[in-house]
Amino acid sequence: MNMKTIRIVAAAAIFVTAQCSRAAEPPVIRPGEVWPDDRGQHVQAHGGGILQLGGAYYWFGEDRSATNARIARCVACYSSTNLAQWTFRHQVVRLTDPENLGRGWVLERPKVFYNTHAKKFVMYAHIDGRGGYKFARVAVFTCDTVDGDYVYLKSFRPLGHESRDIGQFVDDDGTAYLIFEDRPFGFRIAKLSDDYLTVEKEICLIPEHMEGGALVHYQGLYYIVGSALTGWNPNPNKYATAKSIAGPWSEFKDLAPPDKNTYGAQSTMLWKVTGAKTTTVIFMGDIWKPEAQWDSRYLWIPLQIGDGKLWLPEPKPWTLDLKTGEVGFPKSQ
Ligand code: GAL
Repeated sequence: MNMKTIRIVAAAAIFVTAQCSRAAEPPVIRPGEVWPDDRGQHVQAHGGGILQLGGAYYWFGEDRSATNARIARCVACYSSTNLAQWTFRHQVVRLTDPENLGRGWVLERPKVFYNTHAKKFVMYAHIDGRGGYKFARVAVFTCDTVDGDYVYLKSFRPLGHESRDIGQFVDDDGTAYLIFEDRPFGFRIAKLSDDYLTVEKEICLIPEHMEGGALVHYQGLYYIVGSALTGWNPNPNKYATAKSIAGPWSEFKDLAPPDKNTYGAQSTMLWKVTGAKTTTVIFMGDIWKPEAQWDSRYLWIPLQIGDGKLWLPEPKPWTLDLKTGEVGFPKSQ
């Protein structure tokens, strides 16, 4: 080989190495930006929740596509193996006013639990009528497969209480809970029945008027996050902690500088990723666009959490290594 050939071979080797190492880097999550699915369409999973089945993640949420039939309320399901790249699976709910609530009825914040005994997928959502949200019930759907057509079963007020925003929490021991906003009283945390088809037992009432409830169990402490009641407008979300899910709960504290209004987002879920090296907790929130709902964005940010403190850092693009649990911040953003 002459010098020129050696130089070309060396350059090619560097190029290939760069390509390979780039390919190995985890995909980037960009808080607040359009989040394209495998079809290049912005993910429609607003007010959503995550279900993990082995190495697969499923993201369910309100599908507010402008192309949906006006009278229908829809829930979409996406899957992923890395929490960053999402494949559209199916519009798992496409429902027309099952409780005769009239024009403008709502189906919000769907959350799916998997019942291992019955081998059934059970979805909870907030169902209501327009104007005052007076119906204040949960809707329950079931399905035999994770991304099939969910069948509407019933609606009810959990334990007889008003229920608007709902949140989902599955503890490390597998117990499934619903968090619901009971307007006259506050946040309620309740255990689902064995078949998940009803809400069986109240575990705690947190007498704070908050919504968008989300819970995580991290290093022996429970952290609950919620937002103030300001509709689509963002507000400073807050958090509290407790040693037991039944409380007593600490006072609520800011999770970001209050003037930032949670960077424009409202909480929907906290998700814990336990890796081989570390555990990362992700804040999942919605940046609502009431006049262009389909374009509402997602604010997913890894939290600073531990010793009773929780902090939402300023949004910037990040990566997650699911194997190690580690978060990275790409240089070229
Ligand atoms: C928010 C709630 C959303 C939606 C909205 C309607 O407070 O979290 O899910 O119900 O109000 O104004």
